[in-house]
Amino acid sequence: MTTALITGATAGLGAAFARRLARDGHDLVLVARNGERLREEAAALHDRYGVEASVTVADLSTEGGISAVEERLADQDRPVDLLVNNAGFGNKDTFLNVPVEDELTMLKVHCEAVLRLTSAAAGSMRARGRGGVVNVASVAAFVPRGTYGASKAWVVQFTQGVAKDLAGSGVRLMALCPGFVRTEFHQRAGMDAGSVPGWMWLDADKVVDAAVKDLARGRTLSIPDARYKALMGAANLLPRGLLARASSSTGRRYGPR
Ligand SMILES: NC(=O)c1ccc[n+]([C@@H]2O[C@H](COP(=O)([O-])OP(=O)(O)OC[C@H]3O[C@@H](n4cnc5c(N)ncnc54)[C@H](OP(=O)(O)O)[C@@H]3O)[C@@H](O)[C@H]2O)c1
Repeated sequence: MTTALITGATAGLGAAFARRLARDGHDLVLVARNGERLREEAAALHDRYGVEASVTVADLSTEGGISAVEERLADQDRPVDLLVNNAGFGNKDTFLNVPVEDELTMLKVHCEAVLRLTSAAAGSMRARGRGGVVNVASVAAFVPRGTYGASKAWVVQFTQGVAKDLAGSGVRLMALCPGFVRTEFHQRAGMDAGSVPGWMWLDADKVVDAAVKDLARGRTLSIPDARYKALMGAANLLPRGLLARASSSTGRRYGPR
């Protein structure tokens, strides 16, 4: 029996990771801010799959929230074998129209929390000679698109760099880069994603299935779905200036309103 800790487990991709990992027989530690939702989810997963599911209520935009999860990950008596750094959010609107504090909060959740939780988990995993870390980034990492894309680009570079440092240690790290996924993400940010074409939407459970397969194959980067693999391949061939213009006009059509 192994234990997986998932941040942002109350909704969307995090809840899909929790379902999939419980189905595979992993005990779970579910982390997010909404304790009531977490406890209901933990009870439902325990009843359905017979796994132990505990709850850590933590706001990863705060020092106290990050420290609480770091402590749980570093606890040698209750080892965590798989960490999924998934908690995240979007800020509506373009850079100068978003308060700087909101952008800094994003960096705290998307970068500082990911760095500190990866460090806490990977340290004890390396000592045990096994373990895995999945850091949820986005295809936005590959296009010039403000603080969100920049924070996800950091997640990709950081994860692949640490994966290289830990090669041969038994600890695997992988950055997961989905395209648009049907979750609460856009609604929570107050974004109107109604104009995103149907073919661009991915299903959260399928994204997680692809991620679990790619982690088992030893990939350090996972871009679920052939449509997005092709799009990202094409984006790589474009000059950065052209890519920035295309991404900016696509963002205005499909992104925050
Ligand atoms: N949906 C997409 O199109 C898409 C595409 C690419 C990448 N992603 C990435 O996928 C990840 C999951 O997003 P999602 O689409 O599943 O969004 P979601 O449905 O809105 O879920 C976000 C989760 O993060 C938690 N969370 C947010 N802020 C938090 C904080 N300060 N501390 C602790 N937990 C926090 C939320 O729980 P509480 O509110 O209970 O705290 C919730 O469980 C994010 O990193 C996002 O950037 C999403």
